[in-house]
Amino acid sequence: MLQYNLIHRENPDFCVDFPEPQYLGAKHKLASWIVGHMPETVSAVFDGFGGSQSIAFMVKTKGKEVHTNDLMRYAHHTGMALIENRDATLSEADVHMLFAENPSRGSLMQSLFSNIFFNAEDAVFLDNFRANVELLQCEYKKSLALCIMNRSLTRKIIMGHFAHLQAIPYANDPVRVRRNPSIAKPVSALFLELLPEYNRAVFDNRQKNRSYAGNVLEILPRLKNIDLAYYDPPYCNSHSDYQAFYHLLETFVEYWPDKEFSGGTRRYHPSRASGFDKKKGMMESLHSLFAFSSDIPLVFMSYNCRSYPDINGLMEIARRYRRVEVHEKEYRQSRGGKGSVSGSREYLLVCRK
Ligand SMILES: C[S@@+](CC[C@H](N)C(=O)[O-])C[C@H]1O[C@@H](n2cnc3c(N)ncnc32)[C@H](O)[C@@H]1O
Repeated sequence: MLQYNLIHRENPDFCVDFPEPQYLGAKHKLASWIVGHMPETVSAVFDGFGGSQSIAFMVKTKGKEVHTNDLMRYAHHTGMALIENRDATLSEADVHMLFAENPSRGSLMQSLFSNIFFNAEDAVFLDNFRANVELLQCEYKKSLALCIMNRSLTRKIIMGHFAHLQAIPYANDPVRVRRNPSIAKPVSALFLELLPEYNRAVFDNRQKNRSYAGNVLEILPRLKNIDLAYYDPPYCNSHSDYQAFYHLLETFVEYWPDKEFSGGTRRYHPSRASGFDKKKGMMESLHSLFAFSSDIPLVFMSYNCRSYPDINGLMEIARRYRRVEVHEKEYRQSRGGKGSVSGSREYLLVCRK
């Protein structure tokens, strides 16, 4: 857990913990550095590639109005649960209802993933839980339930993603289980372990915060009166295909009625178009990002030395639209994902009009 200080006029010592994510490219360990560059005078912030919501969450603790977005619906549910949500938490009665047997449950998780990522019992539990989420009366509670279950799933699966087929062999290997007991626990137990810290992370910063699920280039033209936009696009060229890594979470939350599933990991097709994950189209997407941000006084961009284009290529684009200042940091320890291996450099571009 990471402790973020909340700006709270009546009680300046009030703190709120951000539940530690396991998400490729998440910036929770760099959040103080990034948010530390934001001027106090900024009132409304847009996080265009919210992911785990680590930056949106810290900005929320600063008392700002936060608009967060991600292409993926699982990330939007985290945004609804922790950013837009002011006070809805899951009670014991809610959990009882979420865990109760539902005769009208579907069988998507069981038919796709049992004996690939978990055993049949866990897969049936997930189908049942997913059906019960719809019985919750409040949208924020629904998102919170999905967000906690998604985090339980990334805890259960070795390496925290679904682009490999080692989950079952590793969960049956006593040496690996000793090192990481979560991989052998039922998902229901992981959910119950995580629930209190997620409930505690729900807070009201007295602003009207919003979470969106869409392509940043489609969301941007709908926004008004944003003082600062923060962009953390995928590290194009290195682990940038979030749909390959987290397809199972997206299938769980969307409960797709109309997709094809293929390959050993049972990934869905067709996938969403990102525009920021492949070399083809990346330069056009970056140009559009800056062009569509022309009304926003400050643009911050996180970037990594392993991305395409390289930092000089990115600066060339950014300088066509803005005055640019670059800050940089070196990753001392590898945190998983090619972009954060030891010795790789993380940049923060501060772009003024
Ligand atoms: C490097 S991660 C962001 C990490 C985030 N800052 C955090 O701290 O967790 C990139 C995110 O961009 C999202 N993404 C990819 N293409 C997108 C697009 N066109 N519009 C919005 N989000 C997109 C991915 O789903 C992924 O969550």
